Amino acid sequence: MAETVTREAVLEALRGVKDPELGRDLLELGMIKSVEVAGNDVAVHVELTTPACPLKGQIERDITAALKTKLPQVRGVRVEFTAQVRGMSRGGELPGVKHTIAVGSGKGGVGKSTIAVSLALALRSSGARVGLLDADIYGPSVPVLLGISERPTVEDQRIVPVQAGGMPVMSMGFLIPQHEAVIWRGPMLHGAIQQFLHNVHWGELDYLVIDLPPTTGDVPLSLAQLLPLTGAVVVCTPQDVALADAIRAITAFRKLKIELLGLVENMSYFLCPHCGERTELFGSGGARRLAEREEIPFLGGVPLNLDLRQLGDEGRLAEIFDNNHPMRQPLMALAEQLAARISVITERERRLPKLEILG
Ligand SMILES: Nc1ncnc2c1ncn2[C@@H]1O[C@H](COP(=O)(O)OP(=O)(O)O)[C@@H](O)[C@H]1O
Ligand SMILES: [Mg+2]
Repeated sequence: MAETVTREAVLEALRGVKDPELGRDLLELGMIKSVEVAGNDVAVHVELTTPACPLKGQIERDITAALKTKLPQVRGVRVEFTAQVRGMSRGGELPGVKHTIAVGSGKGGVGKSTIAVSLALALRSSGARVGLLDADIYGPSVPVLLGISERPTVEDQRIVPVQAGGMPVMSMGFLIPQHEAVIWRGPMLHGAIQQFLHNVHWGELDYLVIDLPPTTGDVPLSLAQLLPLTGAVVVCTPQDVALADAIRAITAFRKLKIELLGLVENMSYFLCPHCGERTELFGSGGARRLAEREEIPFLGGVPLNLDLRQLGDEGRLAEIFDNNHPMRQPLMALAEQLAARISVITERERRLPKLEILG
């Protein structure tokens, strides 16, 4: 008669199965939430550190393989996933917000806002709670990209952000009349950013994405002073790599001791909408090499795409994630790389004690 499977044996067999990104035992990380055994069938509940986990499939395969190899009597293995984003232990500055991610670039026109909004939408589409703060005082374009015509309201002396498809959004553009240039002086700017962070009812968020101005000056400095930012993403285009704009942004973040979460190469290549052929308009691999040289993660490349521009101009960028648009996949992949990176940094910062959840 075949031996029956016990819960203890399953837990023992799971020892050594690691989170591929964090490099530590799932058990040790407290990610195995429950194990159920019914006859020779096993169900394992894994709680991921982000719903945008790029390696879910691998975790599932590793668990199945470990159980089937170590316990030959096991027949069916079912792995269920949920996710709980873990905040930094030092957090607390923005209550309810687990991670703040600044998106910057060395200059304008590289698609920084398009990428920042796309990252927010992609994280949200994975199931995370996401907010978006447009801190680009020189050219706030988030309201345009998301087709927002409403303005925030005030309740109990706190600003209630505009909701774009359920995502809270604040923009410097809400304060500046369109087509008017505002010259922000240092203290005024610092005050405005402080208001946008601390006087806005953001609610409970896993990620707050911040679209920075294309300069490396005042705004990142204010942010760094006001918040424990989780880190910054730098957006560049293949030409910038040669022009060293990206390096300027990287250097500025380093000076402010802001963690570099990764580099994104926008307008990386062209995908022909007719034949699907991929053309490297500006050469390839530049940003990846720069990332390697600077020892920061390369999060991925985003192709030049006519729809991305048109939908953005028409305030319909969110449609890429509602429909099965061909741009959805590369943008989701980018967000997943970012989320994974944040999980790694959080884990490193928290140095999670060994959790004794089961047993
Ligand atoms: N990958 C892309 N493919 C096509 N057009 C893009 C892409 N990324 C950005 N754009 C377009 O380039 C222009 C500048 O983008 P934007 O996000 O406003 O840049 P930035 O915030 O860096 O100034 C916009 O018209 C935008 O629609
Ligand atoms: Mg912009």
